[in-house]
Amino acid sequence: MKTVRVFAPASIANLGCGFDIMGLALDEVGDVLEMSVSEGDGLTIKNESGVPLPEDIEQNVITPVVRKFLEMTGNRAQVDVVIKRKIYPGSGIGSSSASSAAAAFGMNELFGCPLSEEDVVVCAMEGENLASGGYHADNAAPAVMGGIVLIRGYEPLDLIKLPVPGDFYCAVIHPKLVVSTKEARSILPKKVDMHAAIAQWGNVGGLVAGLYSGNIGLVGRSMRDSIAEPYRKSFIPGFDELREKVLESGSLAMNIAGSGPSVFALANRYEKAQRAGAIMEKHFSDLDIPYECYVVKVSNRGARLTAY
Ligand code: HSE
Repeated sequence: MKTVRVFAPASIANLGCGFDIMGLALDEVGDVLEMSVSEGDGLTIKNESGVPLPEDIEQNVITPVVRKFLEMTGNRAQVDVVIKRKIYPGSGIGSSSASSAAAAFGMNELFGCPLSEEDVVVCAMEGENLASGGYHADNAAPAVMGGIVLIRGYEPLDLIKLPVPGDFYCAVIHPKLVVSTKEARSILPKKVDMHAAIAQWGNVGGLVAGLYSGNIGLVGRSMRDSIAEPYRKSFIPGFDELREKVLESGSLAMNIAGSGPSVFALANRYEKAQRAGAIMEKHFSDLDIPYECYVVKVSNRGARLTAY
């Protein structure tokens, strides 16, 4: 029997303009799995994290990831997984991707790394598909690779790790409103207005240029979303007023985190991210909406073996 312990980080998808094509990894917050393989043919998943998860392993994102890995590599094995640490599902910071990325990375380690990093992401995307009904990689890729990742294309998958200039921090608030990714995707139009599309591709180009050149102002003003946000912000009471206050306090940008309902602010200093977090806390507290808030560094590190 061989055992590994794996960590995969939380992540934020979309980054405003990059619907389904961009995401970033966060530091320290994430999932920890203990994974073992032995001779045989089967899968068990034990949840020791204290976070409630479906009992049925067919509903656990780890299951399709493990199966995809075995299929891609032509292996069979008894795989036993223990979930040691888990981000709360629905927290808006890539809970399903953290498990999926950790499972894909862990399987690859257990079998001597037969898959490339990109194929590890392909495995992790199976978990995303179970969770949200779509093969998007904007949480899974940064959770595997770390940093800020651009998905240049899906057919074939073309992943580009972008530079993270300086010290970036995110304040993320998870208001306790129930909005599933499936629901948040189903309200989006199937066709995009030309005017909105022009604004969006200008911003995507601006964000990439800003990250490469270290132009923080350009990063901030490019993180605008004319495609999904106009529809999704209706799930978040007072979204526009909140953003105005957060930007006034010195953050570079504020957007919906992935499909929401969490919201994040990006700042180039810890103190500014803390200020944004305090403003977001007051906003939801005034609305009598319970929340959880984190201020976390953007990390260049993705899934990895861990001792704890
Ligand atoms: N890009 C996906 C969406 C992320 O916005 O639906 C889901 O977390």
